Amino acid sequence: MARVRIKVASEAPGPRVERHVFGHFVEHLGRCLYDGLWVGEDSPVPNVRGWRRDAVEALREIGAPNLRWPGGCFADDYHWRDGVGPRAGRPRGVSAWWGAAEPNTVGTHEFLDLCAATGAEPYLCGNVGSGTVQEMRDWVEYLNAPAGASSLADLRAAHGRREPAGVRLWAVGNESWACGGNMRPEYYADLYRRFATFLRDFPDAPLWRVGCGPRDDDYSWTEVMMRACGRPLLGGQRLMQALALHYYCVPGDFPPSRSATRFGEEDWDELMARTARMEEFIAGHSAIMDRHDPERDVALAVDEWGAWHAPEPGTPPGHFYQQGTVRDAVMAGYTLNTFIRHASRVRLANLAQTANVVHALFLTEGPRLLRTPTWDVFALYRAHHDALALPVETDGAGEREWQGRRYPALSAAASRAADGAVTLTLCNLDYARPLAVSVECGALAVTGARGLRSAAPQDHNTFAAPDAVRARAVEVPVRSGTAWATELPPHSVTSLTFR
Ligand code: AHR
Repeated sequence: MARVRIKVASEAPGPRVERHVFGHFVEHLGRCLYDGLWVGEDSPVPNVRGWRRDAVEALREIGAPNLRWPGGCFADDYHWRDGVGPRAGRPRGVSAWWGAAEPNTVGTHEFLDLCAATGAEPYLCGNVGSGTVQEMRDWVEYLNAPAGASSLADLRAAHGRREPAGVRLWAVGNESWACGGNMRPEYYADLYRRFATFLRDFPDAPLWRVGCGPRDDDYSWTEVMMRACGRPLLGGQRLMQALALHYYCVPGDFPPSRSATRFGEEDWDELMARTARMEEFIAGHSAIMDRHDPERDVALAVDEWGAWHAPEPGTPPGHFYQQGTVRDAVMAGYTLNTFIRHASRVRLANLAQTANVVHALFLTEGPRLLRTPTWDVFALYRAHHDALALPVETDGAGEREWQGRRYPALSAAASRAADGAVTLTLCNLDYARPLAVSVECGALAVTGARGLRSAAPQDHNTFAAPDAVRARAVEVPVRSGTAWATELPPHSVTSLTFR
């Protein structure tokens, strides 16, 4: 068995691990929003103002810090005025991207209700592709202008919310290089400057404007955006607080065609090798950003990421409904560790998507909801929220590879919370082999250990057995000299607490 030495520099706290890195994404797509989250006030499914109670609880329990809405591709086809005011009078539409009828039952006020119920901060994505500067600046004013300050503030009050909502997080379009308008970066960069200029800061709501960023390794997009929008303007005004990055791991490449649940060791290696590229892409885009913004004022917002497999047999292909196995949970832990290690640049991220679509936290079927093993990883990582990242050295784990692409057998990240507790999250990325680890964490001692373990990486929860795979308390490492020794089973995620 490989023996790994891990050293956590508990006395060398680094940048803050923003809780927003553990964010989620709700799009009007397939059964994510309607059904997966929204059932309506009159539904027999227990709900909080129309939002299913089991979903609200699942999001509260992991401390979901933000929810990105209404898309995705849907955002650049969405007109916010269609979703406010009495529901009976709202227009019905057809989603240009996903083809579904859009009743506009859920609009801005309903979405804010979901955020209030879950404790998540709203992260709204404005329409650049088919919308106007005026439409988006009006949405900001509608939500953030002080009560009575303008006709839009009055309209908000007439729709039931007198006080401003103070929505801070705004994305200026989505994937403007594809579904958001098939734009070239130079054109989008100029559009971004125009849009961002008119998105005003209102009292108590200084905006965090997120520019559409690249996909994967499109470094030229980042270069153009940072050159055009990454520096303060004359007078010191900053137009862009973050640049987005989208990266999905798709075994076999787009369109997703490989089963989420039936896979072997080579498929596992492929997914982990693809996940390793998140590190490469963050480092590559960060290096470009560093040249234009050495102070790291502009964040990288990985506002769509996840493992994307073929839809479950018998489900509509455009709904992107897939199961979530332990493989996806390990992939999620590995990705979150990568974000933590890049905390100085990555300050927001959104797993795609919350319910029933792509890499989901939970799946629903009528009144039933099952939490995927990925949900457990977000529960295990909650201790990292707003803690200070700590340097971690690992030695001896070795590497694995798929088609010449290497990935480490172990992924590790650590942070120190305000109360001094240190959390170390460890993913054994090996399909079949355990790792013997010994951890040094200064003079601190292990006080707790939880983990996600399963007999097989294909294991997952079903509606018949919704808790087949769950994170639980695991054997606490034993002292061995100045270190703490334990064994990490293959395909596992472990969280150790030191005090
Ligand atoms: O998450 C599904 C889709 O993937 C989103 O709508 C889009 O932004 C991305 O291409």
